[in-house]
Amino acid sequence: MSSKIIWITGGSSGIGFATARYFVKNNWIVIISSSNLNKLEKAKDKILKEKNIKNLHIIKCDITDKKEVKKTISYIENELGEINIALLNAAAYSPNKNQKFDIDNYELLIDVNLKGTLYCIDVLKDVMKHRNNTIAIVSSPIGYRGWPTSGAYGMTKAAQLNLSESLFFDFKKIGISVRVINPGFIDTEATRLNSFKMPFLKTAEFAAEKIFKGLVFKKSFEIYFPFSIVFFVKILRILPYKIYFYLWKKIGNF
Ligand SMILES: NC(=O)c1ccc[n+]([C@@H]2O[C@H](COP(=O)([O-])OP(=O)(O)OC[C@H]3O[C@@H](n4cnc5c(N)ncnc54)[C@H](OP(=O)(O)O)[C@@H]3O)[C@@H](O)[C@H]2O)c1
Repeated sequence: MSSKIIWITGGSSGIGFATARYFVKNNWIVIISSSNLNKLEKAKDKILKEKNIKNLHIIKCDITDKKEVKKTISYIENELGEINIALLNAAAYSPNKNQKFDIDNYELLIDVNLKGTLYCIDVLKDVMKHRNNTIAIVSSPIGYRGWPTSGAYGMTKAAQLNLSESLFFDFKKIGISVRVINPGFIDTEATRLNSFKMPFLKTAEFAAEKIFKGLVFKKSFEIYFPFSIVFFVKILRILPYKIYFYLWKKIGNF
């Protein structure tokens, strides 16, 4: 049986990198892309050091560049084979502990996390049509509700979540499975910018294993982990505003 193919956006670091390594080790053909070729080469060297692997490819692809996204997907499909899973993981993140409304930051996060993800989906929807492939969008439990200090990032993650739910229905009709991944706090370059203590912090390797098992062996729409923190956030999601705002006041005087 020939190996299956996964394309991971934002595979040069963090969750994307660890997931790429996990899939490679399990004999998948893996293509990682990001906006920085230098970082991608370093990521590839790191994985190759562990094992002489031929099934790992790197492609520079800034997801905010429509043409680059199209070129990347065409290259994979024509030169390497059918993309079975597209893991749309690339994102920008910037903590905003001062609760300052910064329009440039909003624009950056909208461009990468939202428009970039949409550019990928726009091309994938045509190439994946009627092939029973999967588009998996990495969102975040922060998208379940508005959190203090998270306006820009949280808004993009809420939009991704809403988009995934909506496309789940629409793309089922054209034979594409849409799934969403909601990780709790994972130790990566992005979250190392946080100045608060992150509860139930897990490693990127932990996330990679959950993502691999969730995508390959399970069929549920949402893959979330670790259970303890995400389940707690799921409860916050259904609380009436009065209680929700009261809790934040008690937790952090927000
Ligand atoms: N870490 C967590 O606790 C956590 C929790 C919930 C959800 N998430 C989500 O998990 C995903 C991965 O996050 P992470 O924590 O692993 O962050 P990370 O280590 O900062 O990785 C982000 C990746 O996105 C890439 N990227 C950024 N801008 C890009 C662009 N314009 N085009 C293409 N690639 C771009 C980065 O590579 P380049 O800089 O080389 O472009 C990098 O590979 C994100 O969607 C994030 O929202 C993370």
